[in-house]
Amino acid sequence: MNNGYSVKDINQAEEGEKLIKWVTNWMPVMDGLYEKFKVTGAFKGKKVALCIHLEAKTAYLALTIKKLGAEVWVTSSNPLSTKNEVAAALAKNGVHVYAKHGATHEEYNCFLEEILKNKMDVTVDDGGDICEFLHKSPTYGENIKGICEETTTGVKRLKELNSEGKLIYPAIAVNDAKSKHLFDNRYGTGQSTWTAITHLTNMNVAGKVVVVAGYGWVGKGVAARADGMGAEVVVTEIDPWKALEARMDGHRVMKMEDAAPLGDYFVTTTGCSGIIKMEHINKMKHGAFLANAGHFDFEIDVPSLRANAVSSSCVRNEIDEYILKNGNKVYLLAQGGIINIAGGLGHPADIMDMSFSVQLGCLHYFLSHEDLKAGLYNVPEEIDRLVAEEKLRIAGITIDK
Ligand code: NAI
Repeated sequence: MNNGYSVKDINQAEEGEKLIKWVTNWMPVMDGLYEKFKVTGAFKGKKVALCIHLEAKTAYLALTIKKLGAEVWVTSSNPLSTKNEVAAALAKNGVHVYAKHGATHEEYNCFLEEILKNKMDVTVDDGGDICEFLHKSPTYGENIKGICEETTTGVKRLKELNSEGKLIYPAIAVNDAKSKHLFDNRYGTGQSTWTAITHLTNMNVAGKVVVVAGYGWVGKGVAARADGMGAEVVVTEIDPWKALEARMDGHRVMKMEDAAPLGDYFVTTTGCSGIIKMEHINKMKHGAFLANAGHFDFEIDVPSLRANAVSSSCVRNEIDEYILKNGNKVYLLAQGGIINIAGGLGHPADIMDMSFSVQLGCLHYFLSHEDLKAGLYNVPEEIDRLVAEEKLRIAGITIDK
């Protein structure tokens, strides 16, 4: 580790700076919030940690917080999604970055400790790892005024802690803001999942059968975009209302065991483990593609696939070919990790403009309400509304009152 950062290669900084510069063109809502918060001075001298997929949009959020006067630490919530050149650019620009693409679990824990021992004031989490760490080592959390959680999976973990009375910090469910999940989870993941899949495979989607597991916000987006590209969409669900909704949106709905022999592409979007099991994979067509768009890499049972396949090899960037005992081949994308980020560029910048504006607003809220009690809070309505109204204003759209 270097003094204040640990990245793969600091010489990649210039390349990373270009990537960050590009996204700054498309994040005007966050720029507007920056102007507002510059005046309040709430971030001045504060310590802020981000544990979130580390790519260009995240980097711009980190740099904006730094420009507001805070000292900023960053690691990636998923080492498979870390862009080394972006990490290098942040380090060069005075952010304490501890992140490397492909870091091991042990390295990731070291990074978290290296950051959190500096006793943060506020943090941004994506999946709940900082929150979990600060509950295990509460002395590191002595100065915490609040934790902002980015994604559905992390919010689920927070809700469990809160309902058991074990949440010892104030936390905001950023994912549950309308300006976040209605756009990021649905349109952001919908588009970027297919951008990543088509880029990695160089294959056509029209006329194919796409099986989407889960019809929550992410599943709806992934299904709608597949439909828009001319695929036939099959949805699997466990929730009867979501299953009906999928049917009424025009998709076929069935159990995974029935969908397994039909699919050309499989995309899991549930946030739950063991969605695609070996028994399903054994029924799949020769040449089926498997991808996951949920937060964790446990939706496709990759360990069983590895153990049961006759052989496996990496046949193209982020594509592993597995030859099954029945002679069929299946292709696993991005090792079953979060496909749109681990195997692609992540959400479009103008979508992340909304999500990260909500994040910036919530961090500011914690720093200007330092006496909040421990517990789970919703995003304040004024922040959620401000982000949506700003987005409309920038798009030149006026609506009735
Ligand atoms: P959600 O809660 O709206 O939807 C999940 C859906 O999966 C629910 O409808 C649930 O009934 C269904 N489900 C659960 N178990 C199932 C099973 N065994 N078979 C079929 N369906 C099942 O959650 P949301 O917002 O759609 O997020 C899903 C996952 O994606 C989470 O892990 C979240 O953190 C992650 N996420 C990923 C993003 C990305 O960039 N790839 C962006 C936003 C969220």
